[in-house]
Amino acid sequence: MSDPKHGERPIVLEESPGKKAYCQCGLSEKLPYCDGSHARNQTGLAPIVVEVADAGKKAICQCHQSANKPWCDGTHSRLSA
Ligand code: FES
Repeated sequence: MSDPKHGERPIVLEESPGKKAYCQCGLSEKLPYCDGSHARNQTGLAPIVVEVADAGKKAICQCHQSANKPWCDGTHSRLSA
């Protein structure tokens, strides 16, 4: 299994309701969404698939350390020092 490519900050966007697959390998060209790069690069990683119930602003974790993935919980701000 490969280590994910980490981002320094969450991706904040206006999300729409529906089934979403959020990238966990960091290699997607469509971040924060999975584009299949995890499989093409044989990372052994997989996206987190969730059903988003309500439209609204969401912060998608890119440091991959959140305790509430795929959502940002602020952990990224404590990682770099
Ligand atoms: S492209 Fe990163 S998890 Fe699928």
